[in-house]
Amino acid sequence: MRGAQRALCLLLVASASLAALYLHLWAPKGPPSVDLRRPPPERLPPPLPPPARAYPHVPFRLKEEVMEVMTSRGSVGLPRDPRLTLRCPPRRVQTPADRLLIVPANSPLEYPAQGVEVRPLQTVLVPGLSLQAPARNRYQVNLTASLGTLAVAAEVEGVALRGEGQPHLSLAAAHLDHLNRQLQFVTYTNTQFHPDTADIVQFSTDGHSAAFAIRIRHPPTPRLYGPGTPGDGYNISALVTVATKTFLRYDKLRGLIASIRRFYPSVTIVVADDSQRPEPLSGPHLEHYLMPFGKGWFAGRNLAVSQVTTKYVLWVDDDFIFTPRTRLEKLVDVLERTSLDLVGGAVREITGYTTTYRQRLSVRGGGAGGDCLRTRPGFHHRLAGFPACVVTDGVVNFFLARTDKVRQVGFDPRLRRVAHLEFFIDGLGVLHVGSCEDVVVDHASKLALPWRRSEGERQYNRYRYPAARDDSLRLKQRLFFFKNRFKCMAGD
Ligand SMILES: *[C@@H]1O[C@H](CO)[C@@H](O)[C@H](O)[C@H]1NC(C)=O
Ligand SMILES: *[C@@H]1O[C@H](CO)[C@@H](O)[C@H](O)[C@H]1NC(C)=O
Repeated sequence: MRGAQRALCLLLVASASLAALYLHLWAPKGPPSVDLRRPPPERLPPPLPPPARAYPHVPFRLKEEVMEVMTSRGSVGLPRDPRLTLRCPPRRVQTPADRLLIVPANSPLEYPAQGVEVRPLQTVLVPGLSLQAPARNRYQVNLTASLGTLAVAAEVEGVALRGEGQPHLSLAAAHLDHLNRQLQFVTYTNTQFHPDTADIVQFSTDGHSAAFAIRIRHPPTPRLYGPGTPGDGYNISALVTVATKTFLRYDKLRGLIASIRRFYPSVTIVVADDSQRPEPLSGPHLEHYLMPFGKGWFAGRNLAVSQVTTKYVLWVDDDFIFTPRTRLEKLVDVLERTSLDLVGGAVREITGYTTTYRQRLSVRGGGAGGDCLRTRPGFHHRLAGFPACVVTDGVVNFFLARTDKVRQVGFDPRLRRVAHLEFFIDGLGVLHVGSCEDVVVDHASKLALPWRRSEGERQYNRYRYPAARDDSLRLKQRLFFFKNRFKCMAGD
C-alpha cells in the first residue's frame, strides 16, 4: 500500500516536471514583431531595375526644351551626360505598390502586371499566371512572396508541388498544359498584417524572372449620407452646414446670420469665436463655439468644421452677406453630379467687382533640397455640363466642400492670422477643386472710412493686418520649407 502510494507520487512528480519542460519548450513565443519603421526594410533582394544598357557607339543630341521641363524623378537616366547624373528622387514611396518595376525583355512568363488585391490576412486567387516556353522535357516555375504564403486551390494531375502553404512555391510538370492548368489555381494568403501595403511576388523559370505586386489593403470604408433629396430639388438643411469663424466683428456676423436666414431658415450655422470678450449669440439652428482668446484663423476653421454633421460644409467669412444670387443648390448640384470635392463661388466686393480667386498650383521636383511651388491665377479646364464652372486648385473664401475631405486636409492651426492658400497647398493631391462664378455672395463693407470704424473694428484691424513684417510671414516660410518641403516659390 505504502509502496504503491510512493510509486504514484513519483509518477506525479515526474509527469509534472515533464509537463513543465514541455511547456517551457513549447510555450507560445507570441507572433514575431514587425518592423514598420520608414523607409521599409528590404525583405527580399530588391527587384531594382536592371542597369541601363550602354550604347557608347550610338550618338545622340539632347533636346534642351525637354531637359528643362523634365522633373527630377531620376527614372529617365541617359548615360554620359554630366547634367543627368542619376539623382535619387526623395523617398516618396508609400507602399511597394508604388515601386518602379521594369519588365526584362522576352520573358516566357505571363503574370498580372497590376490589379491583384487582397484584404489583410485574407486569401485571393492569383489570376493570369502561365508559362509560354518552347518544348522541353520538364517545366518548372517558382513563386516567392514575402508578406504571405502561396498555395493551390485545386491539384492538377502530373504536377509536382513543393512548398505549399509557404512563401516559396515550386511547381514542376512534364507537360506544359498541366503546369499551366495548375497555375490557374495558385492562391496567395497574406500572413503579415498591414492595412495598406503590397507584396512583390517573384515569379521565375529557368533563365527568366519577373516580379508583380499584390496590393494588400482594406479598401477605404465608405462614409455614406442620407440622400436628402425629397422629390425635386435638394434639401439644403439636410445636406449643408454653414461654418464661419469670427473675431470681434459681431455686427458683421449678425448681418451674415440674418441674411442666411432670409433664404435658408433652417440650415445649421456653426460659429467658432476666439474673441476676447465674446458676445452671446443665439437662435435656432445656431451653434456658437467659444475658443481661447486669439487662437487664430485656421484653428477656428478646424473647430467649426469638426462640428459639422452634414455631408457638405459651406465656408463663409463672417463679413459676407447672402443675396438672391447665393444659390447653394447650384453648388450642391455640382458636388452631387461630379467627382469634385470642393467648389468655390464668387465674392462681390462693395465696389461691384467680383472675384473667384482661382489659383493653379504646380510643383516641380527639386531634388534633395526640396521642391518648387508655383502659383498662377487661372484654371485647368472648363467643367462639362456646368457652363459657369471650371476646375482649378485654389478658390476664394466662399466654398462648398465634402466635409470628410476638408477634415482630411485640415487647417494647420499654427497659421493664426493671414492664411488661405495654405489650405489648398496642403490639399494638393487630395482635393479636386472647382469654381463657379454664378453663385455669388456679397462682401460687406471693407472700405469703411477710418473715422467711422467702431472700437471693435479698430481692434480687429490691429490683429488682421499686423504692423510691418512680423513673425507671421516668417512662420509661413518655415512651414513651407519644413512641412511642405518647398525650397522655392514663385507666383504670377
Ligand atoms: C526553384 O526553386 C527550387 C527550390 O525550391 C530551386 O532548386 C530551383 O532552382 C528553382 N528554379 C528556378 C527556375 O528558379
Ligand atoms: C429637410 O431636412 C431637414 C433636416 O434633416 C428636415 O427637418 C426637413 O423636414 C427636410 N425638409 C423636407 C422638405 O424634406
